[in-house]
Amino acid sequence: MTTSLTIALSKGRIFKETLPLLAHAGIVPVDDPEKSRKLILDTNHDDVKLVIIRASDVPTYVEYGAADLGVAGKDVLMEHGGEGLYEPLDLNIARCRLMVAGPRGIEEPAGRMKIATKFVNSTRRYYADLGKQVEIIKLYGSMELAPLVGLADRIVDLVDTGNTLTANGLEPLEHIADISSRLVVNKASMKMKHARVQSFIDHIAEAVEKNRKD
Ligand code: ATP
Ligand code: PRP
Repeated sequence: MTTSLTIALSKGRIFKETLPLLAHAGIVPVDDPEKSRKLILDTNHDDVKLVIIRASDVPTYVEYGAADLGVAGKDVLMEHGGEGLYEPLDLNIARCRLMVAGPRGIEEPAGRMKIATKFVNSTRRYYADLGKQVEIIKLYGSMELAPLVGLADRIVDLVDTGNTLTANGLEPLEHIADISSRLVVNKASMKMKHARVQSFIDHIAEAVEKNRKD
């Protein structure tokens, strides 16, 4: 009997960038999540399924064992807290930086700054380490708007090219962390399905190494 594997992925950038790594491990999805409404995708292996979920839900599915493995951005893992799962591999995909940004050319205001972000835990830790008292305003997206409409003095968001900041009259100010996507593994699956999971990790690691060299 073969051991089944369920892999949690989010649509969009992570799915696209993970596909070639999966292909290297011989796994090819039957459906395209951008076209199908299915949330469980079959693959060319009867015993390998992909579950398609929100990026920020991946650690939860993997921690609770609803998926054996998953791919999640380090930003998402930093927010979730990494204790409940293994993080054996940096996939070196979806690379960007978690940064503080603010209106271009504007001095830091005196007193307690308002910081808008969806990365509340990482932001709280960052300012606590600096010993700065700030007010954190939780948003779910489009953080770049907050300083433009007076909701916040600064934002904490992901930056890649910097185009989104520039388009909104903002500039990157402080670097918090380098971000890339990680393979995460359920702790029980790592024990109970060890040979299967380890062989999968090894194949993906080979693909990551090959990408680094190309
Ligand atoms: P959710 O649906 O849970 O709100 P999301 O919309 O942030 O998540 P994506 O935009 O697909 O999901 O981002 C997935 C991951 O890709 C992020 O967690 C981050 O690690 C990385 N990422 C986000 N933006 C960029 C970017 N501009 N360039 C490179 N990587 C990025
Ligand atoms: C991400 C992030 C920034 C933008 C940064 O958004 O939230 O807004 O990318 O990239 P840049 O520096 O290259 O402009 P994304 O494109 O994922 O849109 P979303 O947050 O609406 O999903």
